[in-house]
Amino acid sequence: MSLNKSRLRYVALLLMIPAAVLGATTLFTPNFNSIVAHGPIQLGHSELACADCHWDSTGTVRQQVQANVAFALGNRATAVDFGYQVVTSAQCLHCHERPNERHPIYRFNEPRFAEVRQDINANSCLGCHTEHQDARVSVTNTVCSHCHQDLKLSNDPLDIAHEQLVEDKHWDTCLGCHDFHGNHAHKAQSHVSEAFNVGVIRSYFKNGDNPYGSEKHYKAKTND
Ligand code: HEC
Ligand code: HEC
Ligand code: HEC
Ligand code: HEC
Ligand code: HEC
Repeated sequence: MSLNKSRLRYVALLLMIPAAVLGATTLFTPNFNSIVAHGPIQLGHSELACADCHWDSTGTVRQQVQANVAFALGNRATAVDFGYQVVTSAQCLHCHERPNERHPIYRFNEPRFAEVRQDINANSCLGCHTEHQDARVSVTNTVCSHCHQDLKLSNDPLDIAHEQLVEDKHWDTCLGCHDFHGNHAHKAQSHVSEAFNVGVIRSYFKNGDNPYGSEKHYKAKTND
């Protein structure tokens, strides 16, 4: 058995277990919400509990400690998370999974999106929605440009055709007529002058008013 570098670092970490366990258990206790919040949660999540996204790691704290001691000693191949899991799309989908999603994330695991994924993690909710930033959306409103460069409609209904908008690089118009997920009842306008102003879209990203209206095809689950 050899103690490689990462294991040695792990031994050092183990010395901090009591502090870490205490930290993990107190951090997500409701009473501490207002004190230790990592940063402001977006408006739509104001009623959520920390634990709705920060799920407990599987196993009891004792099992986690045992597993990590075994890892540090070289008797186990991997370490386990302490106290709570890293937040991934799984937590989001638990409440936001819906049929008829226009841009489902699993689709962007396909090889043809490999290059796009280097610029934007479209295969993860967190690629466009980091939490704790007091914002609904954390990418720019021109995000459409990553994938719709070849856009051309055979019977284009717009007064300025999509092909022309793309040629002129008017990527900040897209969200003026289309939402991203297709979850709002909103119907796309057909005159570019009727598109929502880019300032309105940017404000919506930052918790401002929703220009597409409040009517949604699917409502998110609340905590159960
Ligand atoms: C809607 C989901 C969600 C809710 C609710 C939520 N968080 Fe988070 N939290 C995240 C995500 C996603 C990250 C990782 C990205 C980041 O650092 O912004 C994170 C990161 C953190 C981190 C940093 C941990 C690390 O490993 O970097 C802390 C601390 C934290 N959250 C505390 C809280 C507390 C306290 C609450 C309750 C007031 C809370 N969170 C509620 C999603 C959430
Ligand atoms: C426990 C359930 C739950 C979890 C987990 C959760 N959400 Fe939400 N989310 C909601 C609810 C409820 C709302 C408010 C109602 C709505 O807008 O549908 C909401 C609102 C939102 C909104 C704003 C909607 C609007 O119109 O204002 C975004 C964006 C969002 N969630 C993204 C995420 C992402 C990304 C994650 C994962 C990090 C996540 N949510 C995790 C329940 C959840
Ligand atoms: C490529 C970027 C991108 C990814 C990836 C992404 N979103 Fe979004 N999301 C957006 C944009 C842009 C908006 C604002 C336009 C709109 O409302 O559709 C948005 C809006 C939302 C909203 C509010 C409107 C609604 O549909 O109710 C929710 C909730 C949401 N996203 C959840 C998620 C969840 C959950 C995931 C992962 C399964 C995810 N998003 C992945 C870009 C993204
Ligand atoms: C990561 C790649 C990616 C990004 C980013 C992206 N799209 Fe798409 N979009 C797609 C794919 C793939 C399709 C499906 C096209 C097909 O089936 O031919 C699609 C389809 C659509 C459709 C048609 C949906 C339908 O049901 O007919 C609209 C509208 C759309 N996207 C708008 C947008 C807008 C607006 C943005 C920017 C906010 C955007 N997209 C960003 C990949 C993307
Ligand atoms: C003035 C409003 C408006 C603007 C701006 C706009 N669109 Fe559209 N778009 C429409 C309408 C209307 C349709 C046809 C009906 C529908 O799909 O809702 C459409 C259709 C689409 C489709 C479906 C194509 C198909 O094959 O069915 C995609 C993808 C799309 N738009 C993406 C974009 C992108 C990307 C941008 C930004 C460059 C953009 N749109 C800008 C209104 C707009």
